This record gives sequence, structure tokens and C-alpha cells, in this order.
Amino acid sequence: MIINDEAALDGMKRASEAVAVTLKKMREYTTPGMSTKELDEFGGRILMGFGARSAPYLTYQFPGYTCISLNEEVAHGVPSDKRIIREGDLLNIDVSAELAGYWSDNGGSFVVGTDVHGYQPLISASIQILKEAISRIRGGIRLNSIGAFIEKEARRNGYNVIRNLGGHGVGLSLHEQPQSILNYKDRFDRRRFRKGSVVALETFITTGPTQAIEQQDGFTLLTNRKGYVAQHEHTILITDAQPIILTAANALW
Ligand code: CO
Ligand code: CO
Repeated sequence: MIINDEAALDGMKRASEAVAVTLKKMREYTTPGMSTKELDEFGGRILMGFGARSAPYLTYQFPGYTCISLNEEVAHGVPSDKRIIREGDLLNIDVSAELAGYWSDNGGSFVVGTDVHGYQPLISASIQILKEAISRIRGGIRLNSIGAFIEKEARRNGYNVIRNLGGHGVGLSLHEQPQSILNYKDRFDRRRFRKGSVVALETFITTGPTQAIEQQDGFTLLTNRKGYVAQHEHTILITDAQPIILTAANALW
């Protein structure tokens, strides 16, 4: 969406606070032994407290309030009472919601408890890359220059990016123009970020995989080859200086 007035800005701030606080509280609530369904229901209650409704449910009839992806799952993990979270697991929670007609989206990967499997360097790289990528966005900057930056930084750290997932416009629906803000340089993409527009920028940094593949359930995405993925996502308002991070209440850095 393009923000043209105070009411729209206020609406986006409220929706963004709801998803950001929900994500933060879910991360804090996560404990080994808990099922992903239990964690999702906790998140669902927080969203309801804000008067917000699950965006993946409204948009895709997703069977849960939030997407919770564990270990080998890249994204869109379906909360389940059979998926038990263990110490050292790589967990991604993605919270997107609608509040009073405005939609916002944020997510993040983290290690549950002690990092027994050594996922933290991947996670830290993803957070740092998102932070630096956001700081480079201005009205008029090419989308593919940000993609090029993200891929270059991933490579420099010894990582890859998922090529068939990316960021997107957000605000009046969950996914809107500009679609497919990729984490690599598509040289045919001539689009530029627009001042006043709202986008969700999301990294998909990996230890090797390059594609996400949808499973039989129609939701869960796994990798095309062995390896792990970290995703971090903020909804931002583009200006002619540094973007405003609307979901900053979920402080990734
Ligand atoms: Co998201
Ligand atoms: Co998103």
C-alpha cells in the first residue's frame, strides 16, 4: 500500500504493533517440550487481545493462527500437537495479521534454549543482512539492488539464499504489489521502491538449499536439499531517508 494520510499510518502502526508484540511474546514463551500447536494457541490469544485476526487464516484458510516452522521446515509450518519443540531446535515463527483493515507481517528464526547444533551463526548472519538491507532502502532504489546486496552478503558469509521466496508489498492485504522482492539480483527486474509504500522485507539465508518445495499438505515448505534456513522479516515504511520499521516492537537487533 501507499500511505497517504495519518489514518493509514496510524492503522499500519497498530497492526504492526499487534504482530510484533505477538511474535516477541511467542519467542519468550517457547520452551522445550511444548508442541507447536500450544505455542500457536498462545499467539492466537495475544492477537485476539489486540482485536487482530490471523492473516494466513483469512487469506489461505491456513490451519493455525501463525506459521511455526521447525528445523528442516523453511516456512508455512502448520502448528501441530505432534510437533514437539526440543532444546537446540531451529524455530521460525512468522506472525501476520489484519487489524481494522490494515495488514502487517513479521517473522524470525531463533534457537530454542542452548545452541547445541550450532545454528546461531546462520541466524546472526540473517539478522545482520536484514538490518543492513533495510538501511539501504529508499524511495527510488531498485528492488534488485537490494536482492543483489542480500545475496552478496549471504555468499560472503558462506551461505546461500532461497530463490523462490521473498518479500512483498503489504498493508491492505497480506501479499500485494510489489510482489516477489527477491533475495538475489533478477537483472530483468526494473522496479523501484516507492516513497510512502509499505513492504515486508524477508531474508531466507541458508546453509546450502536454494529452493523451497511445497509439501502434500499444501502449506509446509521444505528445502530442495539438505541444510537449514533462517528467515527474518520486518514490515517497513519507505521514505526518502532510512525506512521506518513498523514492526520494531519485535526487536530483532
Ligand atoms: Co511473514
Ligand atoms: Co511476508
